[in-house]
Amino acid sequence: MQKKPNLLSGMRPTGRLHLGHLSVLEEWASLQDAYNCFHCVADWHALTTAYDDPKDIRENIRQIAIDWLSAGLDPQKSAIFVQSHVREHAELHLLLSMIINVSWLERVPTYKDQIKQLSGEGKDIATYGFLGYPLLQAADILIYRAAAVPVGEDQLPHLELCREIARRFNNLYQTDVLPEPQSLLAKIKLLPGTDNRKMSKSYQNFISLSARPEEVREKVSQMITDPARIRKTDLGHPEICTVYTYHTFYNQEEKDEVFAGCSGGTIGCVACKKRLAEKMNAFLAPILQKRAALEAAPAAIDDILAEGDARAAACASANMRLIRDAMKL
Ligand code: TRP
Ligand code: SF4
Repeated sequence: MQKKPNLLSGMRPTGRLHLGHLSVLEEWASLQDAYNCFHCVADWHALTTAYDDPKDIRENIRQIAIDWLSAGLDPQKSAIFVQSHVREHAELHLLLSMIINVSWLERVPTYKDQIKQLSGEGKDIATYGFLGYPLLQAADILIYRAAAVPVGEDQLPHLELCREIARRFNNLYQTDVLPEPQSLLAKIKLLPGTDNRKMSKSYQNFISLSARPEEVREKVSQMITDPARIRKTDLGHPEICTVYTYHTFYNQEEKDEVFAGCSGGTIGCVACKKRLAEKMNAFLAPILQKRAALEAAPAAIDDILAEGDARAAACASANMRLIRDAMKL
């Protein structure tokens, strides 16, 4: 049997995941059979901005692992591990720092924007570590000699930088030890936030993956609907209503009926929202169930992470030897 190519993906442990993340996790889960998957909880990356307040990072690592597992990552297939437990990431980051020109990092589109934005909020991230964020990310990927990285659009510049660094390394040391990873850009239909803006923690318009049924009902009931609809018989415009958009995600079977009922004035907003909330809760029930099982067995999560750390470390340390050789170390 041919060995499967390696795949690496990662997220920063910065809090509970929400429904907007679900399509990404489903995409990760769908790649588990074709690739040898490594899923990295990027706690050092979290530290680039949370260095002054790291108290939640440990708990967030556990929570993100639970989110991943309850959304369908299978620890038998995929290594779920913590970045800071595999020190080779740091060693490769250091070695790569020798060969990257600072201007490459300063040119990354998000860099100056984020410095500006966060310093406006009173936070100093003009640090060496934050400048090196994309370089650390490149090390995360290259240490596994990963063939593929599933990413969102926002991460493409980081992936491009990673590929440039791999090329430069191979060129300088006349080797092919660092393959250029391909980005797997998922065609994800983006779920908007409950206020129809982008779903985001900073807007407080998200529904978390761990939301209980009451919370889902509450958040759905607060969604703004078509202002033209005061009475049930008023003709509505479902295409401008977030509730309808959510029906297209979570209630495929009834979405046409909802559309017709809203535009024909035969379904009221309260009933429409109730139907949505019930469908969402039915959809989320198996995820909640898995979460409850995992939370009831905290030692099992430790085991899964320890196992993932070991699998990642085995791969990373073998590759690190090749990399040191290429650099004559
Ligand atoms: N920067 C990524 C994000 O914010 C997280 C991340 C860290 C990552 N290391 C990675 C993603 C390696 C892909 C590959 O989403
Ligand atoms: Fe929105 Fe449903 Fe009310 Fe139409 S009936 S405006 S889709 S909540």
